[in-house]
Amino acid sequence: MTNENKLKATIIILLIAIEIVVWTVNHPHTPNVLSGINGGDENVPEMQNPGMLEGRDSIGNKDEASEYDGSRERLFKNAEQKGLLILVNKENAIPEDYKPDDLKAIKYFVKDRSAGSRYMRAEATDAFHKMVEKAAEENIEIRMTTAYRSYDFQKLLYENYVANEGQEAADTFSAKPGQSEHQTGLAADVSSLSVDYELSDDYGNMAEGKWLAENADQFGFIIRFPKGKEHITGYRYEPWHIRYVGIPAAKEIREHDLTLEEFLQQNDIRP
Ligand code: DAL
Ligand code: ZN
Repeated sequence: MTNENKLKATIIILLIAIEIVVWTVNHPHTPNVLSGINGGDENVPEMQNPGMLEGRDSIGNKDEASEYDGSRERLFKNAEQKGLLILVNKENAIPEDYKPDDLKAIKYFVKDRSAGSRYMRAEATDAFHKMVEKAAEENIEIRMTTAYRSYDFQKLLYENYVANEGQEAADTFSAKPGQSEHQTGLAADVSSLSVDYELSDDYGNMAEGKWLAENADQFGFIIRFPKGKEHITGYRYEPWHIRYVGIPAAKEIREHDLTLEEFLQQNDIRP
């Protein structure tokens, strides 16, 4: 090699070395490129790798925090757009022919109840399954009795209650047809063996009823007719009636001890 070529080769090697040094300085957490493709971070135990730990933790915390901080309104808006915050009560009826188009079968139900009622909207059904499975891990058994109810089914129920108990009593615990949120596919009545799979006030004192009241919000459900809020909801306490609103709204409602009516009003969401 001539001296001139030697000089050229040295300059090229020097330039490559400088390039590597600059690139490494600008990418401090990148696995060491000089130790091979699979080298570097992959072999470092996670707890000893502050870069990875820091990154994952900060992402996790950020997601969790965003449910309550800056983007709360955005999350509520998203739930509203998906129809999860629909308000159906004595003042807000839905049309007789309303039927959700995304009903999905529920796996965990009490067998001797109406088969046509074993459905909720897909997102609510998925959340319900997750909740029942999580409860089962803690030895809590939860089963659905009825969920989606058509206008006609609600009519049958209501008329039956009126015939047996009179209208005044019936109106404290049963919605008239068109006024039941069961028709939205977002509500379910649940029960357990501890109360013979009945819908009973005692459910609120049972392990299952307590578990629901404490954990349902983590799956996007609320206890829709809480004790002491009868004057707002229009119905007496129902520890068994859960309503899907999505996780952010459910957490907000539980944390501040609200009804759906109060939550919607406070967040300026129209029924
Ligand atoms: N029990 C509730 C109020 C309903 O009938 O929808
Ligand atoms: Zn119900």
